[in-house]
Amino acid sequence: GSDMSKTTGLMALDQGTTSSRAIVFDHKAEKIALHQKEFPQHFPKQGWVEHDPDDIWTTTLETARDAFQEAQAKGCEVAAIGITNQRETTIIWDRKTGQPIYNAIVWQDRRTADICRAMKADGVEKTLHERTGLLLDPYFSMTKIGWILDHVEGARARAEKGDLAFGTVDSFLLWKLTGGKKHKTDVTNAARTGLMSLETLEWDEELLRLFKIPRALLPQIMDCADDFGETDPSLFGRALPIAALAGDQQAASIGQCCFTPGMIKSTYGTGCFVLMNTGDNPKWSQNRLLTTVAYRMQGQVAYALEGSIFIAGAAVQWLRDGLGIIKSAAQTQALAANLADNQGVYMVPAFTGLGAPHWDPDARGGIFGITRDTGPQHLARAALESVCYQTHDLLAAMEADGLSPKSIRVDGGMVANDWVMQFLSDILGIEVERPVVSETTALGAAYLAGLHMGVYESPADIARNWARDARFSPKMPAQTRKASVAGWDDAVARVKTI
Ligand code: G3P
Repeated sequence: GSDMSKTTGLMALDQGTTSSRAIVFDHKAEKIALHQKEFPQHFPKQGWVEHDPDDIWTTTLETARDAFQEAQAKGCEVAAIGITNQRETTIIWDRKTGQPIYNAIVWQDRRTADICRAMKADGVEKTLHERTGLLLDPYFSMTKIGWILDHVEGARARAEKGDLAFGTVDSFLLWKLTGGKKHKTDVTNAARTGLMSLETLEWDEELLRLFKIPRALLPQIMDCADDFGETDPSLFGRALPIAALAGDQQAASIGQCCFTPGMIKSTYGTGCFVLMNTGDNPKWSQNRLLTTVAYRMQGQVAYALEGSIFIAGAAVQWLRDGLGIIKSAAQTQALAANLADNQGVYMVPAFTGLGAPHWDPDARGGIFGITRDTGPQHLARAALESVCYQTHDLLAAMEADGLSPKSIRVDGGMVANDWVMQFLSDILGIEVERPVVSETTALGAAYLAGLHMGVYESPADIARNWARDARFSPKMPAQTRKASVAGWDDAVARVKTI
């Protein structure tokens, strides 16, 4: 509508690993409405993680409708939708009925570890890394697709006939929102499948052959800010343009306005993901970091170097739901701060193996240095510290690749914890910058949609909205930092299997 008395809203649908949220922002990045719903996690076997695609869809639709209506009641008209999502998670559905043929296999799922090991032995990792910037780890989509095709009866034949569609969560939601009209993805999500060439930004025929993936399964690859079609009118009472798609970590980079080479962000959700913008040429890591696409918008591509850690906030969730030693995540701040130091207790939260820079899918977690006076506060502190040490390991790998940032922008639920932010700055030895808007992932998707709709003219126009809430500077004596990191290194060495 062109009612001038109404503000223009951009609705981000952020479909994460443990919850779906919908947030409407105005053009100044002010939050107008936020709705969130958690959904069940399924662990059918040790190391397996699945989601019911129907839960993904219904929680997305419900939160989207609630946010849309609340915004409207507040005089804010939603002009477009941007989708952002947990990456790599794999769904295959029937093109005619829209019915998934198997549960979503979640990024954390380790079931294809053996397949990856065998392909590594066959020398496939080199080709994969050169073409995609990824490594042969069960984390990525390609072996998950193969697993579904090989384990659901008749799936491979149906895929070859073109009866089935594959999508990461972005594509699946787009399909659902458009009433089955659009089967598309964007460069950032496609970059995580292990099937897209970083050079052409198209599906790579040789990789499709190596991983035995029928071409007919795959969506079309688009820019992040692009024309993805519109929602089925029955969903929101009218058709809404879908103007953006981006993987959640890339969307967070955009929400943090990391638009120039060298800018870096770290997001603390279920896991922790550090992305550094490396400009218009992919940068190859010698230290087992990933090379990926940061974004392509207005025809401009930017690449990123990424460090991926599988467990960050999930370690605190485990203290709460697994051990029951805390009632809320917020409690950990006081528990940790009550101790002068960690008293030698370290936790390595390798619950689903180790990601970057170790890539050890068979490693499992461990707690070390326990004595008779070890209590809940030590475990809480060790869990929080582990998040910081893991970030340190990523930045150390970046440094070994010749990239040393002077500060890092942080976001995600955990960054509200001042104790963690100070410890992070101490251990990294650089400044940690926390923005005012901590829902950076959703904000990035809203920015992208706004860019496509002409609400913003350029990335520079978007970057004007970034505002700092707090800055943490390193205070820890160098000796203490060295000793703390050495204790961590020792603990990690004990859980590694390779
Ligand atoms: O690569 C996985 C990542 O996209 C998941 O992010 O925030 O849902 O844990 P999150």
